[in-house]
Amino acid sequence: MPATAETTHDVVVLGGGSGGYACALRAAELGLTVALVEKDLLGGTCLHRGCIPTKALLHAAEVADAAREASRFGVRATLEGIDMAGVTSYRQGVVSRLHKGLQGLVKSRKVDYVGGEGRLEDGRTVVVGDRRLVGRHVVLATGSYARTLPGLDIAGRVMTSDQALELEDVPGRVVVLGGGVIGVEFASVMRSFGADVTVVEALPRLVAAEDPACSTALERAFRKRGITVRTGARFESASESDGSVTVTLEGGETLEADLLLVAVGRGPSTAGLGFEEAGVTLDRGFVVTDERCRTSVEGVWAVGDIVPGLQLAHRGFAQGIFVAESIAGLSPTPIVEAEIPRVTYCEPEVASVGLTEEQARAAHGDAVETYEYNLGGNGKSQILQTQGFVKLVRVADGPVVGIHMVGARMGEQVGEAQLVVGWQAHPEDVAALLHAHPTQNEALGEAHMALAGKPLHAHN
Ligand code: NAI
Repeated sequence: MPATAETTHDVVVLGGGSGGYACALRAAELGLTVALVEKDLLGGTCLHRGCIPTKALLHAAEVADAAREASRFGVRATLEGIDMAGVTSYRQGVVSRLHKGLQGLVKSRKVDYVGGEGRLEDGRTVVVGDRRLVGRHVVLATGSYARTLPGLDIAGRVMTSDQALELEDVPGRVVVLGGGVIGVEFASVMRSFGADVTVVEALPRLVAAEDPACSTALERAFRKRGITVRTGARFESASESDGSVTVTLEGGETLEADLLLVAVGRGPSTAGLGFEEAGVTLDRGFVVTDERCRTSVEGVWAVGDIVPGLQLAHRGFAQGIFVAESIAGLSPTPIVEAEIPRVTYCEPEVASVGLTEEQARAAHGDAVETYEYNLGGNGKSQILQTQGFVKLVRVADGPVVGIHMVGARMGEQVGEAQLVVGWQAHPEDVAALLHAHPTQNEALGEAHMALAGKPLHAHN
């Protein structure tokens, strides 16, 4: 018996998050033998620290808002407060059911699940403890971690979303550093739970990757909710004392809080895993790939947050499936980054797909038309008492290349939006389709009708 047990598989996947497990499941489905290496929990960031638990928090926040605002709807109710232990047990219940389900899937597809930290030894081998897993192909899917800023240690009252998820009480005052996706989602939850919230964002607007119209609407809605938004404000330092944390901004202004939530982006988890030694080219820690997810080493692929681009679970799933199909000899179509739908689940939600107006003008010059349909004309949105819009960006006489939406629950509309952009539909094509009444989905239909020159419930 050799000191190290060696097993050979068609595919060895390093990392059991969205990208890695999707790749493993699809590869197994296609008849390949697969090993899946995970050092922590199957499901990764998305299931255990990201998408799922945070959206559970956001749902609890929505329930709190519903109770708080019940009288608006003629319902007598009072919000007594937030029982964080109850929120935690609900959140954990959701995660643990999905986790069990996922474990069952991996088992039933006969994936060789290897618990432990793996290291890439060469372009074919991953070492995990005393096991050497040799693959015809190796897929790197090690994900990302919450970054912080130089000199800003994550400890005590200074947290990232990882620790903020586990809070046992609702803090009184929260400063959120970073007005990107994680920042605005947590700001939204904390406000709904009753905290005083200030968002500090260095750029001139919140969710700066989105169309500026979305940023403006979100900022307005946040202000209305009592969230303080400090854009164009740069963080300088933070210090903890006397049961609070003092945040100093460039220029010297200070903010006092019980908690500083750091949400300044996620870095790729690629250090110390043998990638560079094995010849895999990295760029600032990210794995460089071509559009087919191939790294610089033959037979080594990379998917998910370690690949530069949108750090979204559904991009990871799609890349994982793409790589599995490529290895199996199919010819899947490469993923078009610009057609990946994006949803930020704060209240109100921001959802988009395709080009912003600015990007469309850069790509198509003056031949770009836009239309903004106000949810004020949408019955269901009025029933929900939400405000927002659907903004369409089209090439003149051509397809819709971008859709941008703001409003409670509008994230659910991103599916149709994605089909419109992905299938390069013209407004006239969509205008001819019926949208059920009364739904928020109608707002998408109405926006296309207006852009096709036949507005119905539109005032502009
Ligand atoms: P982000 O890149 O979206 O936002 C970070 C923000 O921090 C930026 O706006 C940046 O300008 C700001 N910032 C950086 N340094 C600063 C400083 N010194 N002072 C003030 N502001 C500063 O990153 P975030 O929110 O941490 O999210 C990480 C990733 O996770 C994103 O790529 C996001 O797509 C993904 N994610 C997606 C979700 C979704 O799809 N709903 C939910 C949560 C995360």
